[in-house]
Amino acid sequence: TPGTPPTPVEVTTTDKYAFAFDIDGVLIRGGKVIPEAIQAMKALNGENEYGIKIPYIFVTNGGGKTEAERCVQLSKQLEMEVSPGQFICGHTPMREMAEKYNTVLVVGGEGEQCRIVAEGYGFKDVVTPGDIIKDNADTTPFRKLTAEEMKNSRARNFAKVQIDAIFVFADSRDWASDQQIILDLLMSKNGYLGTRSETFEEGPPVFFSHNDVVWSASHDLTRIGMGALRVSLEAMFKAVTGKELKTTAFGKPQMGTFEFATRLLQEWRKDHTALTLLLQLCTYFVGDTPESDIRGTNEYDKRAENTWYSILVRTGVFQAGTKPRFEPRATVDTVLDAVNHGIEREY
Ligand code: G3P
Ligand code: MG
Repeated sequence: TPGTPPTPVEVTTTDKYAFAFDIDGVLIRGGKVIPEAIQAMKALNGENEYGIKIPYIFVTNGGGKTEAERCVQLSKQLEMEVSPGQFICGHTPMREMAEKYNTVLVVGGEGEQCRIVAEGYGFKDVVTPGDIIKDNADTTPFRKLTAEEMKNSRARNFAKVQIDAIFVFADSRDWASDQQIILDLLMSKNGYLGTRSETFEEGPPVFFSHNDVVWSASHDLTRIGMGALRVSLEAMFKAVTGKELKTTAFGKPQMGTFEFATRLLQEWRKDHTALTLLLQLCTYFVGDTPESDIRGTNEYDKRAENTWYSILVRTGVFQAGTKPRFEPRATVDTVLDAVNHGIEREY
């Protein structure tokens, strides 16, 4: 009857399945939301024909900001609350290395952002390329620090500082100078800048937060990413020293990232549902990059206790009309189609 408030409907959360989303090329492109993403999120939050909520997390290879900051940005873009408890980015697992290495070079990202992230992870002594250039401007003949960089960079006598590891946290904003500095360290005696090893086998280890050679940004065609820097660095090391360089990448498709995602999803479900039995039959992973999202999901599906079902969308790296190098369980146009596909499969 008119005037009577509607009876609140209890929306329950399913324990049978969940979703995990890649971000770039699935939900966001070039900083702008892909319109179907908003509808897809609404469907997960209960606006679907079964009136049920579906648990979900976000697993991006991107980074360059703290998880909390990325979630604030994503919440605005998706017009709903995203919490850091639902979010993993490429560098999230790097926090587990903070105890192991004392002084680290952190590369990539805007301004001081990645130093802030690394310090937040507990890294004790974080050096940036700017610190090194401030100490010795001859390091990079074609790069001069801006007034802002000069103010924020922390110069010290790097001849006396041993750098224990190199972490590429986010995309380099200046490949030439960043690669020069990484190469100097790789060719050094035990990580001391200004020295040259006789064997080129005593430089610090290099870790990349992911290995995407290309990614989907605002341009119609894919853009080169961190994996391209990795290939370039390895080739350059070989050209200069004649030796092979072995580096390590985190992120998708690494199994560690999917294990991390499983733990996150379990925690999220424990905190947000009344479920005591953490039985989850299927996680739908929605991605746009066959080499990272589909490959990782398919490989993890083979070893995980529960099903991981890969869905490829056509809004990002993968383009219609081509054959993906790793075959997804389903290919659909948009993230909304992916969510509908998963829901339909469950009923
Ligand atoms: O730089 C980020 C990009 O390579 C991939 O991000 O969200 O597609 O995993 P995403
Ligand atoms: Mg993507």
